[in-house]
Amino acid sequence: MALYVLHENPDWFPPFAAAFDAAGLDYEEWLLITGSLDFQSTPPEGIFWNRLSGSSHTRNHPYSKDYTRAVLDWLQAHGRRVVSGRWVVEMEVSKVRQLTALQAFGIDVPRTVAVIGKDDLLATAARFPTPFITKHNQGGKGLGVRRFDDLDTFAAYVASDEFEEPVDGITLLQEYVPPKNGLITRVETVGYDYVYAITADAARGGFQLCPSEACELDEAGRPVAAPSLFALREGFQHPIIDAFLDFARAYQLEIAGFEFIETDDGRIVTYDVNTNTNYNPEVEAVAPRSGPGEIANYLQRVLAETYAVTA
Ligand SMILES: Nc1ncnc2c1ncn2[C@@H]1O[C@H](COP(=O)(O)OP(=O)(O)O)[C@@H](O)[C@H]1O
Ligand SMILES: [Mg+2]
Repeated sequence: MALYVLHENPDWFPPFAAAFDAAGLDYEEWLLITGSLDFQSTPPEGIFWNRLSGSSHTRNHPYSKDYTRAVLDWLQAHGRRVVSGRWVVEMEVSKVRQLTALQAFGIDVPRTVAVIGKDDLLATAARFPTPFITKHNQGGKGLGVRRFDDLDTFAAYVASDEFEEPVDGITLLQEYVPPKNGLITRVETVGYDYVYAITADAARGGFQLCPSEACELDEAGRPVAAPSLFALREGFQHPIIDAFLDFARAYQLEIAGFEFIETDDGRIVTYDVNTNTNYNPEVEAVAPRSGPGEIANYLQRVLAETYAVTA
């Protein structure tokens, strides 16, 4: 019985392929970029891992989100087991959904206003305390993330060619939360279990902090930052981890990375939920457990459970 992996970015796949090979897991990739879906057809037996990324449109894959939605609707209509199922797509592609859900769950988030369309941007910003940052509702790699310290600079930006249109027309205005020591933390979870936490150096790396090896290299294959912006946050234990695991369970986020900022005055502010998560090679080299390794184990377990019940 096979595992099918639904995604659109082959560059991110090698660490997972290696972990699946090491675990002796049979898998097949379904690249969801353009294609067709015949309603008369029946999905193959197996389990399906949805790895849709909220930034797929930036890789010239504008249809991947709707293609994935369609394929997941079809798979789930046929009762197939999908890891990171249909509604996880909606969590992945919307920071509105992530932040409102986190807030309702009692997890502290940055003060945020979502502005739909461009017309209200300036008027809303005029009522928003500075400094603030902008970000795209649909992002995943720091899309549209910029800091503004005054309204005039923001007005000039909105009027300029530099203004980055969000793909769904939704821009978030968000409280700028100063990170203690310039570091943000990302907590990785697999199968509702805590794997490890990493820090990313926002002071040095800015707002584009993608941990994948494919993002860390420039076009010539050289590291874009040395030393690495990412490090294992060794032995990190905190009640926020249990809150993330409970949140993941409530929304069936079977594989998720949660990003938060700690402030000098002791706030822990969570601002990003990644359901398409990539693991940093330097961190993996020293971590007590491997992210892709845990995913391989988890998928193997799901496969055994799924076919033990229905066989
Ligand atoms: N409210 C905030 N205050 C300060 N820095 C932030 C805030 N939100 C995000 N950042 C910084 O910007 C980066 C990208 O923002 P994020 O919300 O994670 O977008 P994406 O989903 O595109 O990765 C974060 O890793 C962090 O360093
Ligand atoms: Mg992020």
